[in-house]
Amino acid sequence: MSKSKQIVLVTGGVGYIGSHTVIELFTAGYEVVIIDNLCNANKECLNRIEKITKNKFAFHEVDMLNKKDLSDLFNKYKFHHVIHFAALKAVGESVALPLKYYKNNIIAALNLIEVMADHGVKSLVFSSSATVYGTPKKLPITELDSIGGCTNPYGKTKWFIEEMLFDICKVDTTWSVVILRYFNPVGSHKSGMIGEDPLGPPANLMPFVAQVAVGKRPHVNVFGNDYPTNDGTGVRDYIHVVDLAQGHIKALEKLNGKCGLKIYNLGTGRGYSVLEMITAFEQACGHKIPYEIAPRRPGDLPEVYADTKLAEKELNWKSIYGLKEMCEDLWNWQQKNPEGYSGVSK
Ligand code: NAD
Ligand code: UD1
Repeated sequence: MSKSKQIVLVTGGVGYIGSHTVIELFTAGYEVVIIDNLCNANKECLNRIEKITKNKFAFHEVDMLNKKDLSDLFNKYKFHHVIHFAALKAVGESVALPLKYYKNNIIAALNLIEVMADHGVKSLVFSSSATVYGTPKKLPITELDSIGGCTNPYGKTKWFIEEMLFDICKVDTTWSVVILRYFNPVGSHKSGMIGEDPLGPPANLMPFVAQVAVGKRPHVNVFGNDYPTNDGTGVRDYIHVVDLAQGHIKALEKLNGKCGLKIYNLGTGRGYSVLEMITAFEQACGHKIPYEIAPRRPGDLPEVYADTKLAEKELNWKSIYGLKEMCEDLWNWQQKNPEGYSGVSK
């Protein structure tokens, strides 16, 4: 069957990474069905996707904790692949409300995998995270490095789901599964029409920096300047969300080849410090970003960056965009949508 006829179910497709991936899926010629329970998303995003792609697609408001609704969906459509983004992702909240995270993330994945197996759709891309590596023993981090030792329930849900997928693929070799471990996604689509829209004060660095730049917050708190890094601030592997989205298209190509279970890091392979990120954003927005040095954030690591050689070799994927585009595109989204999608009715 030609690629243009393939239907991809995108769970959590109204969210940040999901919405960017939907656009790349259309560009690559796939048909798309999106499900989301909108617990961390706004329906306006769907209008924006439609405007960008000039494509119609099906959206169903489904909570993945409801297995019957999921099953009905698989009776309605003949999916070829599933990309599973839907999850709760706030690390701090997961520490305060662990059961909420275990229930939502693990039961949703379990329901999905069972329904997929029942309907003979055994082709899955799973959104994992660099957080599964816990405290890395060496840098850069390769896919062969050990996983586990995650310090928060959010990270543990990603780790447990990965373990579940390993076990399933071991006993049933008709599954094809690509686990993608994302490093730090930032930026937005070139149009500035879709982007990351955090509820409340952003927990992650770059959405916070963008809100300071637009005048919504007085300054950035830099969490620690006494790490053993170049300038003492934490170093991360930031990756443009459009590069990340394109990684999913490559993963689908891998699934079409019936690949068994594969794992890939999606990062750039290059780390930048908090201060380097602030400076790069200042260049993009054209003015100074005030910051203050604050205590270290508990659970933070000094330095994290990916070895991306495996994705390059086996997925034929490599990040294209640099720090400049990451900051310019985030700034474009933030300026055009200072209140995110809100203000527009859900
Ligand atoms: P997001 O919150 O923007 O998107 C997740 C979507 O899933 C949201 O639209 C939410 O409404 C939906 N959802 C949550 N629970 C659901 C349920 N039970 N039923 C149906 N829909 C549900 O998050 P994102 O940044 O786009 O992340 C996508 C995936 O990538 C997540 O699995 C996340 O854990 C993973 N990830 C994200 C990052 C990051 O920094 N953004 C890093 C590593 C991994
Ligand atoms: C965090 C999560 C991780 C998740 C990832 C992507 C924690 C402990 N880890 O990772 O599980 O997969 O987001 O969503 O929350 N920083 C500041 N000031 C801020 C915010 C962040 O200085 O206001 C610093 C941090 O100390 C870190 C860097 O900026 O050095 C990046 O932080 P962040 O964007 O939260 O990502 P991670 O810590 O990598």
